[in-house]
Amino acid sequence: MKILGIETSCDETAVCLIEAKGDHGSNFAFSVLGQGLISQAAMHAEFGGVFPNLAKREHAKNLVPLLERALREAGLTAQAENPTIYGSKFETLLAREPELLAQITAFLAKYKKPAIDAIAVTHGPGLEPALWVGVNFAKALSLAWDLPIVAVNHMEGHIMMSLMAHSHTPKYEGMFMTPFEFPLLSLLISGGHTELLLSRAWMQYERLGETRDDAAGEAFDKVARLLGLPYPGGPEISKLAAEAREKHLQFGESLTRPMMSGYDFSFSGLKTAVRRIVESRPEMTMDEKVALAREFEDTVTDVLVEKTIRAVEEFGAGTVVVGGGVSANTNIRKVLQERLASIGGVSLLIPPPALATDNALMIALAGYFRALKGEYIEPANLAAAGNLRLGN
Ligand code: KG4
Ligand code: ZN
Repeated sequence: MKILGIETSCDETAVCLIEAKGDHGSNFAFSVLGQGLISQAAMHAEFGGVFPNLAKREHAKNLVPLLERALREAGLTAQAENPTIYGSKFETLLAREPELLAQITAFLAKYKKPAIDAIAVTHGPGLEPALWVGVNFAKALSLAWDLPIVAVNHMEGHIMMSLMAHSHTPKYEGMFMTPFEFPLLSLLISGGHTELLLSRAWMQYERLGETRDDAAGEAFDKVARLLGLPYPGGPEISKLAAEAREKHLQFGESLTRPMMSGYDFSFSGLKTAVRRIVESRPEMTMDEKVALAREFEDTVTDVLVEKTIRAVEEFGAGTVVVGGGVSANTNIRKVLQERLASIGGVSLLIPPPALATDNALMIALAGYFRALKGEYIEPANLAAAGNLRLGN
């Protein structure tokens, strides 16, 4: 089965075609046939965060070239002999995306229908204007190529990505699902979300807790800004924190670990605490900033790890998966690994940093597993859902 994944929920535009082999029951083997990804992070850096209308425009501009790249890589760009003109049908679908409409019309006239079985597209959660571009693109392709659509929850994509084991080659040949044990505990930490989910069965989720204000990644991004570091702030803070550890620099004041009880999170007070410190010390030296970055990272790490460990113990989790952009954080990985090792008998699955941030491979994977359950959606019923949630 060949699945085309499409991701436009935030500031990455991504397309990925995967092939799923095996008996479709439990022995899965996946390969990436072709892919394309453009990150807009540098563009949004100017605004210190993701600017929704800019994201939308960039997605609309980049989707067709990325699809073309992915299909070419997959060897699926046979020229059309008698080009079908789909133009009129798309006019309503892509009315709000004139540039995308022009590009897709030209693209479809040029190429034969590729051998693809289904389209998987992120319909939420995320920035609604950005999501709509991917959703409408998927609908247009579905209409032109007569392919079924699977609507994917972006957060489930992060979980599926974390469950994969693969060769560290560019196409991850022979990627398969790592054996794991239920209950499965998922810690999802990204720029928009911070959630702890418990799965007692395959693709079923109970939400244990979530952030009441800022997401973990958002806290990294906002604190980075306070320290004069560029967006996205996570990797920047992480670099400084590592430097502080190396030089044994400790910040004089310790930050309060916010909301340590229960499973919900709150990070906005932490950002305010950092702001107060920065504002009260206009003459902060670079060493002090580096030490403060470390103290901040340690605080976020303590909160995330503490709650995860408590949930592992309370629910007897057999496996912990960590997903989302913040899971690229070395310190969080290390501390969580150490704490779980001290409990024993619990496996920890975290994707390599390159696959921890948003991509379309994770969407194609989640789409495949939803397709196996027959969960296709009528294109007419498919809509962007910015606040879509996983579990209840
Ligand atoms: O999952 P993701 O790519 O996009 C969203 O769906 O939000 O996550 C992006 C977030 C950003 O807030 C970024 O600062 C954070 O992940 N991030 C990190 C690291 N790398 C990325 N945070 C902490 N440490 C990192 N190494
Ligand atoms: Zn994400």
